[in-house]
Amino acid sequence: MASNKMWCTVALGFLLPFSFAHTDFFTSIGHMTDLINTEKDLVISLKDYIKAEESKLEQIKKWAEKLDKLTDTATKDPEGFLGHPVNAFKLMKRLNTEWGELESLVLKDMSDGFISNMTIQRQFFPNDEDQTGAAKALLRLQDTYNLDTDTLSRGNLPGVKHKSFLTAEDCFELGKIAYTEADYYHTELWMEQALKQLDEGEVSSADKVYILDYLSYAVYQQGDLSKAMMLTKRLLELDPEHQRANGNMKYFEYIMAKEKEANKSSTDAEDQTEKETEFKKKDYLPERRKYEMLCRGEGLKMTPRRQKRLFCRYYDGNRNPRYILGPVKQEDEWDKPRIVRFLDIISDEEIETVKELAKPRLSRATVHDPETGKLTTAHYRVSKSAWLSGYESPVVSRINTRIQDLTGLDVSTAEELQVANYGVGGQYEPHFDFARANEPDAFKELGTGNRIATWLFYMSDVSAGGATVFPEVGASVWPRKGTAVFWYNLFPSGEGDYSTRHAACPVLVGNKWVSNKWLHERGQEFRRPCTLSELE
Ligand code: OGA
Ligand code: FE2
Repeated sequence: MASNKMWCTVALGFLLPFSFAHTDFFTSIGHMTDLINTEKDLVISLKDYIKAEESKLEQIKKWAEKLDKLTDTATKDPEGFLGHPVNAFKLMKRLNTEWGELESLVLKDMSDGFISNMTIQRQFFPNDEDQTGAAKALLRLQDTYNLDTDTLSRGNLPGVKHKSFLTAEDCFELGKIAYTEADYYHTELWMEQALKQLDEGEVSSADKVYILDYLSYAVYQQGDLSKAMMLTKRLLELDPEHQRANGNMKYFEYIMAKEKEANKSSTDAEDQTEKETEFKKKDYLPERRKYEMLCRGEGLKMTPRRQKRLFCRYYDGNRNPRYILGPVKQEDEWDKPRIVRFLDIISDEEIETVKELAKPRLSRATVHDPETGKLTTAHYRVSKSAWLSGYESPVVSRINTRIQDLTGLDVSTAEELQVANYGVGGQYEPHFDFARANEPDAFKELGTGNRIATWLFYMSDVSAGGATVFPEVGASVWPRKGTAVFWYNLFPSGEGDYSTRHAACPVLVGNKWVSNKWLHERGQEFRRPCTLSELE
């Protein structure tokens, strides 16, 4: 698999130009909050426009009413009316100037302010790619968290603060996006949901004929011929002249007949099902399935016996003067690989400072492509990140010192502090943080050796989803604001510990902020001396 060869980001991330381009909104909630403000602003100027338009109409109405009365009286007795010289004068004045003024008022464009605001803001709007990205994120969440389409469409998610639901038209849109990705499985689910909501009487501009057209095709693509025929029949009841559906129907009938013919002369199908059950018996779980189960909180591989040996304690950084009087709380999260969690290790104020420093330079996180040697974006890493140097803020510098004190490792050879923000569906699929033996040049530019250890701060709680999971060993670590986890990626011998393969689960509800420090081998020679035995 390609991702096996990928190593986690971006030793070079800080060399990239800081980008203010608006792409990839969907990868980070940090940037999406700006859009909410933009929308609020637009609503205000839209309301101003409505007010202006209403006051204009009000003036026009008054004029019409006044003239209505006047012309009524005048037409009843035109000569008598005009016998009054003032009336004669006023008629001249009205027709010569006042109607012209009214015409100008009617023609007056009240939309200036709103339209120019729109033009300015539009430059920062999400584009098609963002919309597709957000839709694909929904589909990904649906799979990872085993959500049925109806639950997702009704917005019945755990821990949501602002319930929101999908209209039949939204479901249709999701189905179409799945369709353009040739993802017929999700096309079927979402077209069916759109149809269901329409059948239940939802008022919508979505058209059943269009939906059935997509749906029958997706079903056909997945090999369910009789269901595809049934759906096409339904389409033809609504629109008997539908050309493609009529053509398809004939084609389906033809294939159906051919299949029946073939079935008579063969028992292959039985052999096939036998093979399938045999495959299922083996209980083979690919990494993806393990990863998704752990994300849902299933398949944890901790035994009570091992659990008993996990403790919590006050830790003074191995008698570090800064922590002797005020040790920190430390919990064992896992035994093998050993993962520890520090509690109350970054304050809310520090978190706010780090987020504010990072926000203006968050850009789509990249990975190292082993084929081209270049940094690229990848569907398996969906988040935005930024790098902060200890020189730019005393808070960052203090955080770096804290990591050095508590890990006993030299941070001067570490990479800068990386801040990452995951939006809805944001994730990082299973990867190693260290470079494998077959990638000797991975951290060459840094000249500080391999990534010996990872320190990861959780800078937010996540309402649902967003765990850090270790599929090799069946471990899940849940984000808790203000805590940090730490593990070694390398054995003391310098060999990579493959059990540290890990992933960031997609965020289901909420917003995930983390920051991490990758510590390197150089500088640790006396702090963590290497050993000869590989697994020591
Ligand atoms: C990473 C990583 C885990 C997480 O950035 O390398 O593994 O939970 N992050 O964000
Ligand atoms: Fe990682």
